[in-house]
Amino acid sequence: MDNAISLELDFGSSKICYGRGLSSLPELLVGRSHILFTDSLLAELYRDELQPYDVVTLPRGEELKTLAQVEHYLGHMLDQDISRKDVVISFGGGAVSDFVGFMASIYKRGIEFISVPTTVLAQVDAALGGKTGVNFGQWKNMVGSFYMPSHILIDSHYCLTQDHDDYKQGFAEIIKHAAIRDLALFEKLEKDCVKLMAKQPEVLEDVIRSAGRIKLDIVAKDAKEAGLRKLLNFGHTVGHGIEKLAGMAHGDAIGVGMSVAAALSQSRCQLSPEAYTRLIDLIGNFDLETVMSQDIEEYWPLLLKDKKAHANAVDYVFLTDIGKAIIEPIALDQLRSLLEDYHASI
Ligand SMILES: NC(=O)c1ccc[n+]([C@@H]2O[C@H](COP(=O)([O-])OP(=O)(O)OC[C@H]3O[C@@H](n4cnc5c(N)ncnc54)[C@H](O)[C@@H]3O)[C@@H](O)[C@H]2O)c1
Ligand SMILES: [Zn+2]
Repeated sequence: MDNAISLELDFGSSKICYGRGLSSLPELLVGRSHILFTDSLLAELYRDELQPYDVVTLPRGEELKTLAQVEHYLGHMLDQDISRKDVVISFGGGAVSDFVGFMASIYKRGIEFISVPTTVLAQVDAALGGKTGVNFGQWKNMVGSFYMPSHILIDSHYCLTQDHDDYKQGFAEIIKHAAIRDLALFEKLEKDCVKLMAKQPEVLEDVIRSAGRIKLDIVAKDAKEAGLRKLLNFGHTVGHGIEKLAGMAHGDAIGVGMSVAAALSQSRCQLSPEAYTRLIDLIGNFDLETVMSQDIEEYWPLLLKDKKAHANAVDYVFLTDIGKAIIEPIALDQLRSLLEDYHASI
């Protein structure tokens, strides 16, 4: 495909094609059978565009991401005689691409997978980087695989039909990417916030590309999170804990998590007060949460159980400036005392 970006990792490679969507599928499917999985809302919203394809409609959201659903839909693929040379396609947000990618990775030991992400979150984060999986009991993404789609077709126009609350959640990850790696993108977000919140297509497309490129660059250098990829956990150590505790949307929880991480970065890494304020303002301007209203006694046990906490330390991501971040192992008792100081100061 013209203008595709190649992502080569040690467990596979993908072609990422911007400005392409469902209408590009026929040229990729020539002579092969396929199943296109989407969720019930997208099946309705995009009924006409989906009409040429063999569509299977999945339940929406996290209720999809269980091993029981995997078993059910693998059975469906078998019933349809999908062979190893055929293709499965996901058309949806991160829940759909995580689920379908996981099925593709285990069906007959792996068949070709094409991903067409339809949310801001999926286009800049979930669909990029090869992590697939489902939840296990209360634990998110606990069972899964690293598996690369052959193609990722990213058309930002799909995001225009997202409802406002879902749409803005994706901007937490975009702000995260800018904060850890890209001052120019951060400045663009500051300048174009109103246009982005109003879903102006040209600005949105540009920002989705820039934010996606940051993730792709990091993943290309460290696919399996041995080092650099941990930067993408900025805001997620505390964020995951309060997401679970308060039942908050992911982006809001990461908004709070980034605000806390920025405060801790002031005391530990001399992040300037100006940089701190810019980050908090930007998160708030995208209508995401910045205020921690949970009690440390409640979220601390969840933080400890999160799969990224190991032994007596956690790799915590601090900002040293806008666009610059570092990963530092920090002893849990030290993190706890930094967080206690933070709570005492708010
Ligand atoms: N694999 C990874 O690296 C990774 C990274 C981040 C998040 N995730 C996963 O991504 C999921 C969250 O992503 P999400 O919010 O995109 O998931 P989602 O698939 O649950 O979509 C959210 C909602 O938006 C609706 N929707 C999707 N596209 C739409 C569109 N174009 N127009 C209107 N409505 C639309 C869906 O029907 C759904 O109700 C979580 O399961 C999370 O674990 C995975
Ligand atoms: Zn996230």
